[in-house]
Amino acid sequence: MNKIGIFYGSSGGNTQNVAKTIAKKLNVSDNDVYNVAKAGANDLIPYEILLLGSSTWGYGDLQDDWESFIKIISSVDLTNKKIALFGCGDSSSYPDTFCSAMGIIYKTVSKKAEIIGLTGTDGYSFDDSEAIINGQFAGLAIDEDNESNLTEERINNWVEALKKAI
Ligand SMILES: Cc1cc2nc3c(=O)[nH]c(=O)nc-3n(C[C@H](O)[C@H](O)[C@H](O)COP(=O)(O)O)c2cc1C
Repeated sequence: MNKIGIFYGSSGGNTQNVAKTIAKKLNVSDNDVYNVAKAGANDLIPYEILLLGSSTWGYGDLQDDWESFIKIISSVDLTNKKIALFGCGDSSSYPDTFCSAMGIIYKTVSKKAEIIGLTGTDGYSFDDSEAIINGQFAGLAIDEDNESNLTEERINNWVEALKKAI
């Protein structure tokens, strides 16, 4: 399998936990899992596949550490890399901006790399999201606040689909 790097931003630990679960299921070692608060441009270079995760904060905003990392990733040559996105949000309290951070990242990186791992919206309950791209989520949407019982299954389905795409 091509070399995978996982980069996440997480304020309360939910996206970090999702990142670690994904890493285990894809046999990605801890050394290839980065908190974006501590990552730099050079960390992105070795990987052919980047999995990028952010929770959504404010009202449809990136997680805080992603505010700087999005500038870093914009400056990196992503040609020939495949990118998949994941994120945590709260579809009940923020139904109009559910997991919107994934959409912000998508809009930045989709100009420069192939995006894989988009997912259907069946089984989710929300009104709007910047992460909706042609009727699909830009990546894996997780709601630990309201639907943590579905997290494992959602991650499993996504990881299986990713394995076929990489
Ligand atoms: C002040 C605040 C603002 C939030 N804004 C949004 C939002 O706009 N959209 C959304 O889907 N979730 C929103 N959330 C929910 C978080 O994204 C969610 O709790 C997530 O699991 C946090 O992940 P983390 O622990 O990795 O940071 C917000 C939560 C808080 C406390």
